[in-house]
Amino acid sequence: MSGSQETRLKVAFTGKGGSGKSSIAGTFARLLARTDQPVLALDSDPLPGMPYALGIPVEDEPTPDDVVVEGPAGGHRWVLRPGLDAASFIDRYATICPDGVRYLQFGNLWGHISSLQRAQYAWSQVVRELDPDAWNLVGDLPGGTRQAMFGWAKYADTVLIVVEPTVKSMHVGRRLRNLADADWAPEHLAVVANKIADPDDVRRIEERVGLPVIGVVPADPAVLTADRAAGAPLDVAGGPFVESLHALVDSVQASYAGTR
Ligand SMILES: Nc1ncnc2c1ncn2[C@@H]1O[C@H](COP(=O)(O)OP(=O)(O)OP(=O)(O)O)[C@@H](O)[C@H]1O
Ligand SMILES: [Mg+2]
Repeated sequence: MSGSQETRLKVAFTGKGGSGKSSIAGTFARLLARTDQPVLALDSDPLPGMPYALGIPVEDEPTPDDVVVEGPAGGHRWVLRPGLDAASFIDRYATICPDGVRYLQFGNLWGHISSLQRAQYAWSQVVRELDPDAWNLVGDLPGGTRQAMFGWAKYADTVLIVVEPTVKSMHVGRRLRNLADADWAPEHLAVVANKIADPDDVRRIEERVGLPVIGVVPADPAVLTADRAAGAPLDVAGGPFVESLHALVDSVQASYAGTR
């Protein structure tokens, strides 16, 4: 698929805590950006993991309170302040990452809870109102089923469940399969099998979760090496993890080809 494509990818990664969502989502975002695509990385985990995989510092600064004002009666509690729309919000507040990825964080837990709520409203409004043709979206959800089931990934038409070959991770994957029955079900729902050392595990995951596996990511000690160095796998690691992520970007791009 060429870099001049009109259709933008809208992908969200979900799955059990620790399954590898952030490592995969951040690396996926950067590799997609290297295909000459504008990429906005959407982190809705209030304890962000994506910055590490994107190769940017983890910021302690919350989104400033004054980006929102109180919303109209009967509407959203907080809305972007007049004159600040989704595009200008991204221009002003999204972090510029290696490979040109823009990163938008949900908020963080260093501020008071009220700041977190305001940042959350701002984030949600930007995601709702951004121009879908302007950006490829790559989202990272917090571990578990809660955000996914409550529609936090409505921006995505492809939801990828990251599953490692443990009973608990497969169980969460199976629950997330129910997203297929939601009113706002994504067009594509599939599994990324992560931390695979034994090819038999891929079959186990596919059977247990009951969805097709669109990508297989090997267990790669280099990812842990990157972790320990607080670096991005893409900058520190190379090797099988990164290779498999190239293949995943290709597979997801191919799944869009011919569907629009
Ligand atoms: N393919 C892999 N090979 C080896 N280690 C991996 C692999 N993928 C992820 N890891 C390791 O697994 C741990 C969890 O990864 P990561 O933080 O990406 O998961 P997560 O699903 O985003 O977690 P959380 O739910 O806490 O946000 C990290 O230590 C990471 O280095
Ligand atoms: Mg994470």
